[in-house]
Amino acid sequence: MSLPTKLFKSLISIKKDLKEDINAVFKRDPAARNSLEIILTYPGIHALVLHRGAHCLWNNEQKLAARVVSYGSRIITGIEIHPAAKIGKRFFIDHGVGVVIGETAEIGNDVTLYHGVTLGGVSWNNGKRHPTLEDGVTVGAGAKVLGPFTVGKNAKIGSNAVVVKPVPAGATMVGNAARMISDHHDEKGNPITEKSPDAKSQEKIATSKQATARDTAFQAYGIDPTSQDPVAEAFAKMLEHIQQSENRLDQLQAAMCKIDPSFCKKEYDKLCLEEFDVIGKDEADDIAAE
Ligand SMILES: CC(C)(COP(=O)(O)OP(=O)(O)OC[C@H]1O[C@@H](n2cnc3c(N)ncnc32)[C@H](O)[C@@H]1OP(=O)(O)O)[C@@H](O)C(=O)NCCC(=O)NCCS
Repeated sequence: MSLPTKLFKSLISIKKDLKEDINAVFKRDPAARNSLEIILTYPGIHALVLHRGAHCLWNNEQKLAARVVSYGSRIITGIEIHPAAKIGKRFFIDHGVGVVIGETAEIGNDVTLYHGVTLGGVSWNNGKRHPTLEDGVTVGAGAKVLGPFTVGKNAKIGSNAVVVKPVPAGATMVGNAARMISDHHDEKGNPITEKSPDAKSQEKIATSKQATARDTAFQAYGIDPTSQDPVAEAFAKMLEHIQQSENRLDQLQAAMCKIDPSFCKKEYDKLCLEEFDVIGKDEADDIAAE
């Protein structure tokens, strides 16, 4: 079949799909009033129709043309969908602007995305690197779904959630927790496991500079931008305090034992700080000790 025939056929199916898409908007957006308004003013609908054209071109080895259509759609709608992304029926993007859908993303039927959603990757390698959303998934405004995993049927992702692991069918996911997973890298971004003495002393200088900055700087938002996870820091301080109390208790016990030797027979479990090394404190202490 020649390309124009294929395009013509796909235009016919686009028209059929459009009807379904408009009905999906009526079902999912109480603000929608009539079909004409939806056709003229809903960027999600414009992006979807243009994506179907771009996807058809992409599958027929017209990759540049596909990218141009996709880029045009992005300019008009603020929604960026890679032409290779696979999208099912009755897909609805509400409000639209800021949505990014990556090349290897797969979207089932009856999926809803709000503005600011990213279906992105976390790797620069070729191959599957974007998520798969099964039928009926809803992704709230501003949520990021990152990685080549599956979000199960009818799952809901709360607004502004950052999801980096598979989601079971029907689950609701909220929240995001940025935490430090590595504090030093080489110039290519690879984590450094063995530190040279130079790196250590440089780090020591940086740590002391940060401490000075922390002590003196005005913190406009009440949070120190140079600090690690504040919860982990508070936790580490509490553990330190408990250990000091335990030491003091030991001294008291030793004193008591002199008075009453039977008192020493009762042992109690002590806290092992290494087991709670939540922010690599031991390493930080080593550096500070040098
Ligand atoms: C995630 C979501 C689907 C949950 O809806 P729900 O099941 O009705 O949940 P509830 O509203 O009963 O909230 C349950 C708990 O989750 C918390 N929660 C809900 N949504 C949250 C979110 N996005 N982020 C963090 N916590 C959230 C609530 O505060 C509540 O906490 P509590 O039990 O401690 O009080 C919904 O809140 C959501 O984010 N939908 C996306 C909507 C959207 O993006 N709209 C944009 C329109 S323009």
